[in-house]
Amino acid sequence: MQTVTTIADLRRQVSLRRQSGARIALVPTMGNLHAGHLQLLEAAKQHADRVVVSIFVNPLQFGDASGGDFERYPRTFEADRQKLVESGADLLFFPSQEEMYPAGVENVTRVEVPGISDILCGVSRPGHFVGVATVVTKFFNMVQPDVAVFGEKDYQQLLVIRRVTAELCFPIEVFGVPTVREAGGLAMSSRNQYLSAEERQRAAALYRTLQAAKERLISGEGDIAAIESDAEKILNEAGFCPEYFTVCRADDLQPATVADTALVILAAAWLGEARLIDNIQFQR
Ligand code: PAJ
Repeated sequence: MQTVTTIADLRRQVSLRRQSGARIALVPTMGNLHAGHLQLLEAAKQHADRVVVSIFVNPLQFGDASGGDFERYPRTFEADRQKLVESGADLLFFPSQEEMYPAGVENVTRVEVPGISDILCGVSRPGHFVGVATVVTKFFNMVQPDVAVFGEKDYQQLLVIRRVTAELCFPIEVFGVPTVREAGGLAMSSRNQYLSAEERQRAAALYRTLQAAKERLISGEGDIAAIESDAEKILNEAGFCPEYFTVCRADDLQPATVADTALVILAAAWLGEARLIDNIQFQR
């Protein structure tokens, strides 16, 4: 696996691979790789001949109010590189902040996806999805992959990226990969390491609560507001500080009604120092 740090080298290496007829997949990450990220790599290998992985902790998506989240985000480059070698990635792009944002982030050109960016996680993290959409657009232009792979764990992010791809006419096929979980059900996340051992045990309640709400909806219960407020109560009792727990339409994240059949329940909740997000998708 080759590692490149400049856009010029990235372009050169991708174009060499393309000349030999290879189909290229891109897996963007912020590093600190775990089994969830590696599952994206596996999916990418199924859809392409060569997989490009990027590792970049993107300052533009953290925001001023992130309370040091950007600074304390775990950076584990050498371990990540090793995992990517073992998992069969072909090219690693590991740019500096100066390479990505030579004029800084303040006045950089941005990509905004209205509507979907301002709800759910967009409420407590204003500007977050502009940061995500902008950096992913830059990667799409740099790599020009045939395929790009993202996790369903960040469901709202996946929908934002699908809209960017469609509305900015990128000829890229976007694949979503189901969430990889710990044995107890906790969705794997780089931020899980902010949890104490005891909190990590308790954190599994988030997924259990999503599953319980799903069961109630599947069994035909129609009072969605009651299902949501019961779930928030359970999370509060389990020591979480819920930000939202919402039943939405799976395609556009608008509040679900009893008439909707393709659903996703999304939750964000603080447990100690960690802000956890999770979701569950289903048909009823
Ligand atoms: P990061 O949090 O590093 O995640 C990189 C990719 O891995 C995302 O597509 C995310 O949804 C996926 N992922 C994370 N945990 C997962 C899990 N448990 N199961 C399956 N997939 C999982 O998301 C980002 O970085 C950034 O916003 C990025 C898209 C790279 C833009 O900066």
